[in-house]
Amino acid sequence: MKKHLVSAHDLTAEDAVLVLDTAKELAQVSDRPVKKLPTLRGRTVVNLFFEDSTRTRISFEAASKRLSADVINFSAKGSSVSKGESLKDTAQTLQSMGADAVVIRHGSSGAPYLLATKNWIDAIVINAGDGTHEHPTQALLDAYTIRKHLKNNEGDLKGLKIAIVGDILHSRVARSNAILLKTLGATPIMVAPPTLLPVGIDSWNGEYSYDLDEVLPKVDAVMMLRVQQERMNAAYFPTTREYSRNFGLNAQRLKTMQKHALVLHPGPMNRGMEITAEVADSTNSVVIEQVANGVSVRMAVLYLLLGGTNNESGENN
Ligand code: CP
Repeated sequence: MKKHLVSAHDLTAEDAVLVLDTAKELAQVSDRPVKKLPTLRGRTVVNLFFEDSTRTRISFEAASKRLSADVINFSAKGSSVSKGESLKDTAQTLQSMGADAVVIRHGSSGAPYLLATKNWIDAIVINAGDGTHEHPTQALLDAYTIRKHLKNNEGDLKGLKIAIVGDILHSRVARSNAILLKTLGATPIMVAPPTLLPVGIDSWNGEYSYDLDEVLPKVDAVMMLRVQQERMNAAYFPTTREYSRNFGLNAQRLKTMQKHALVLHPGPMNRGMEITAEVADSTNSVVIEQVANGVSVRMAVLYLLLGGTNNESGENN
């Protein structure tokens, strides 16, 4: 494994399968009455969040605590960032408090890359979502969830077809998934109106389509994306009603899918827009399970990047 996890490109197929296998082992901790291992005792993980988050921030905190690391939670709101403090100075302040790992979410694409490459800090850097660029641990937990259901929780994702539907243009989740799914042998199919597909989609790892109804019957899973109104500075579709009619997943469309097909969503969901409540709560939906799997996958990433021990005493091997 590379020192940092900034992009899904940082993972070879072997690395990705190692993360998924390690997450499978660590998931057993979550079933215990005492959900804790001494593996990262004495290590400090800083959660550096410049953008809002529910799932990612909480699951990195839970993952760190289950491995007995000390956790410092930093939120830009209410910090000296509002007084103009730079990313470099903020990171170095946290490094001086002994950070071994920095988990960063930032509104600017490339912020985690800067932290990882500028030698401002010694800590490992994990990208928890940067702008419209990448969200590699989301892609890992999605792959874990798909593998668990469709590949008996083993190996890679060879032969599977996965539709990624909606606001691809603004989605860091879509980009990281397209990269990781391809690395693991699956075929991602991006589905969106032409206005919500990025320029250069041809060079992405996979196929693309403007026709959701044509794609749905042939895929093993569909990943619905939130329409990110907050990142839109123009009108990308005429009305939300028309968007839902053409690109929303409803019960009628779900019936056209294969019986085993999974419905995923990274959250937060706009129920009634890209997905109906009926589909979100259906037996095909694994949305809630994705959140639980996120803790195991993030435990695995921290364990592998921080070189945790695998004995119960927490002594280094
Ligand atoms: N999937 C995801 O990144 O959710 P949050 O924004 O709640 O962390």
